[in-house]
Amino acid sequence: MAAAGYTNPLRDARDRRIPRVPDPCALVVFGVTGDLARKKLLPAVYDLANRGLLPPGFALLGFSRRDWGDADFSQLAMESAQKGARTPWRDGVWERLAASIRFVPGAFDDDEAFDTLQQTLIELEDSHGIHGNAAFYLSIPPPAFPTVLKQMQRTGLADSGDRGWRRVVVEKPFGHDLASSRDLNQLVDSVFTADDVFRIDHYLGKETVQNLLAMRFANTLFEPIWNANFVDSVQITMAEDVGIGSRAGFYDGAGAARDVLQNHLLQLLALTAMEEPVSFDADSLRIEKVKVLGAISLPSDLHAYAVRGQYEAGWLAGERAIGYLEESDVPADSTTETYAAVRLGVETRRWGGVPFYLRTGKRLPRRVTEIAVTFKRAPHLPFPVTDTQELGRNQLVVRVQPDEGVTMRFGSKVPGTAMEVRDVSMDFLYGEAFTESSPEAYERLILDVLLGDATLFPRNLEVEASWRVLDPLEAFWVGSQPERYRAGTWGPAGSDAMLRRDGRAWRRP
Ligand SMILES: NC(=O)c1ccc[n+]([C@@H]2O[C@H](COP(=O)([O-])OP(=O)(O)OC[C@H]3O[C@@H](n4cnc5c(N)ncnc54)[C@H](OP(=O)(O)O)[C@@H]3O)[C@@H](O)[C@H]2O)c1
Repeated sequence: MAAAGYTNPLRDARDRRIPRVPDPCALVVFGVTGDLARKKLLPAVYDLANRGLLPPGFALLGFSRRDWGDADFSQLAMESAQKGARTPWRDGVWERLAASIRFVPGAFDDDEAFDTLQQTLIELEDSHGIHGNAAFYLSIPPPAFPTVLKQMQRTGLADSGDRGWRRVVVEKPFGHDLASSRDLNQLVDSVFTADDVFRIDHYLGKETVQNLLAMRFANTLFEPIWNANFVDSVQITMAEDVGIGSRAGFYDGAGAARDVLQNHLLQLLALTAMEEPVSFDADSLRIEKVKVLGAISLPSDLHAYAVRGQYEAGWLAGERAIGYLEESDVPADSTTETYAAVRLGVETRRWGGVPFYLRTGKRLPRRVTEIAVTFKRAPHLPFPVTDTQELGRNQLVVRVQPDEGVTMRFGSKVPGTAMEVRDVSMDFLYGEAFTESSPEAYERLILDVLLGDATLFPRNLEVEASWRVLDPLEAFWVGSQPERYRAGTWGPAGSDAMLRRDGRAWRRP
């Protein structure tokens, strides 16, 4: 029998052995020939089918400006799935999925194509019994959003009628500043109701990010020390070893702060610093995240505590890497940053005075995303100073990717006759602790969209609160030159100087 106080009869007592499968529905992907659809979305749909998580009445619709029929789209989906799927290839699964595939050719300003799409969905009610349920994934360039949303409004695609549901999935970037994000939110909210809008920040679909919440709120161990009394500082890093590849058109003019800091890093900060939600549902999480995002402060001295950089040619993993200005389609005089670092504060009783250092960059030595919480030193050490020379600070590192897991660093006695204390690490590795492999972030998020579970999707107020942090930073950087750093190094010297000024140093993951 459960101990008193440990059961909540109001909570959903779902049997976890029975997987949650969505209602019969259609998933419509706009921009299905694009990079995201081919690399992530189509493989994720196959993986969901392979795991038996799609309903029997499921239809996959592609919309794109190609003179294609269903068979051509089916071929693209098969190739994408074979290349990118996480689960093994099974002909039977594919054949069932392929039978549900439809393609609607057209450009976004083509009224007739949208009428055909509407008609196709009506036909799928008879053939697949989708009951009017449909999710529309906007995997399209951001400037196309207004056109597509207006087409959906005009044709009634956004209206579920009185039978099913209609949902829309919006990819980042959610605008390029507060004003444009508000415009975008208003536009989306004028076509869909707020509960039917799913903004994707794929970091929230990652197991390790969700584990941060499990770690904090399912244990008694961490929460009592998760505050300014015990925490010295927090570092949140998202480092990439790749350059911008063929994304210059999107990246140049946007830069690292808009591309990563505004969304992924601030979401990670919010989950690290927020108070416990009353329950693990979309509204309760949103309330806490908005509160903490609203409490973020920028340093008064941005010259000292905000750094932007741009990579120059260098060497990475034994290979020569070209500089940002040499990348194709990047203007020779571009001042776009490929590295951004900033010190933020969280003005709450829990976090007052604790610096949160955020950094992200391209062409850094390795691909790694982690949250490192460093604790204060013990107020007193009853050992001779010489015995604790190699004792650092306690640290808890949540590795989001790769090598997903958690590492705890603490002091331990070195074997021998002296009382020498040195740092050791205790490691939890996802791959070793669990036999099931983690689903891809997009797999989890697409399933949640079809289930109507918005827990892992940032809401408009969160997005706006994040832009409120970023706008003054971007304004401060306007007209300035980014500091150069060599590809294959850990970013510009100014970023190291920023932490040195505080008597700290960046971790070298
Ligand atoms: N790629 C990623 O890893 C990634 C990551 C995070 C977020 N995102 C976001 O996801 C969205 C899609 O990104 P992406 O990289 O897949 O872009 P992409 O490769 O440029 O693909 C864009 C898609 O939209 C279609 N399209 C563009 N204009 C059209 C029009 N007027 N009419 C009909 N179709 C049109 C393109 O069709 P054509 O093939 O005919 O040009 C293509 O299928 C963007 O909002 C991006 O910011 C992407």
